[in-house]
Amino acid sequence: MSDNISGKVVVITGASSGLGEATAQHLSEQGAIVVLGARRAARIDTLAARIMAKGGQAIAVPTDVTDAAQVQHLVDAALERFARVDVMLNNAGLMPHSPLERRKINDWDRTIDVNIKGVLYGIAAVLPCMQRQRSGHIINVSSVAGHKVGVNNAVYAATKTAVRVISEGLRQEVKPWNLRTTVISPGAVATELPGSVTEPDIARGIGAFYEQFAIPADSFARAVAFAISQPDDVDVNEILFRPTRQEG
Ligand SMILES: NC(=O)c1ccc[n+]([C@@H]2O[C@H](COP(=O)([O-])OP(=O)(O)OC[C@H]3O[C@@H](n4cnc5c(N)ncnc54)[C@H](OP(=O)(O)O)[C@@H]3O)[C@@H](O)[C@H]2O)c1
Repeated sequence: MSDNISGKVVVITGASSGLGEATAQHLSEQGAIVVLGARRAARIDTLAARIMAKGGQAIAVPTDVTDAAQVQHLVDAALERFARVDVMLNNAGLMPHSPLERRKINDWDRTIDVNIKGVLYGIAAVLPCMQRQRSGHIINVSSVAGHKVGVNNAVYAATKTAVRVISEGLRQEVKPWNLRTTVISPGAVATELPGSVTEPDIARGIGAFYEQFAIPADSFARAVAFAISQPDDVDVNEILFRPTRQEG
């Protein structure tokens, strides 16, 4: 059991696969209570059952983060069941890379709705209870793409840059309530994320890149645990990590 993780109520969006799923498992092994949100209800139900079978505590709440009311329902379910929320991990995201000249407007809309608005809705849902508690920790997921833009990822990089900017603004604003904020920017981590690319030629390139470079999802879970496990007067504001072999 790690200090400052055990017993905490942690709400995780995008918990049905990849980084969210790995983090739910890792934190529950450290004694955290996890509240799992994602659209694929069967996946989060199964994960919750797996965690409970190992003696952990978990609930699954089907959630589409593009709907503010559903994100509020996720947080309210955590409050109803466990009476507090200690950590909100705004993790849900997608990465449908393509060159701008292909005018994939539907992909742009979905990326902005999930990656930016979904994070804002998570902040909106959890702030009132954390202000009442005068404690809490909001962790947002950016990316290496939030630090640098390249060809084919302008819209994704813009959303992940927005997540960093929102996180820094939030950090400054929540001081009066003693809240902590962290933004985590991973490099290539092996998840289902490349599956969100809708252009077949781009998907092939990204698939090959991930096959060569990606590291396991527990790398991210450990970064989350590191931030949460610090003493309450230590606020780890930003973590950027890459696979050791990833250059860009
Ligand atoms: N893997 C990487 O290399 C990497 C690098 C940098 C940053 N990231 C970021 O890490 C986060 C997690 O991604 P991942 O790598 O774990 O990919 P993933 O395996 O594809 O997981 C994405 C998660 O987001 C959820 N999601 C997507 N749209 C949603 C919506 N409208 N409402 C609720 N949940 C939604 C998915 O659940 P449902 O489909 O069930 O809703 C899924 O659980 C993303 O923000 C991503 O941008 C990943």
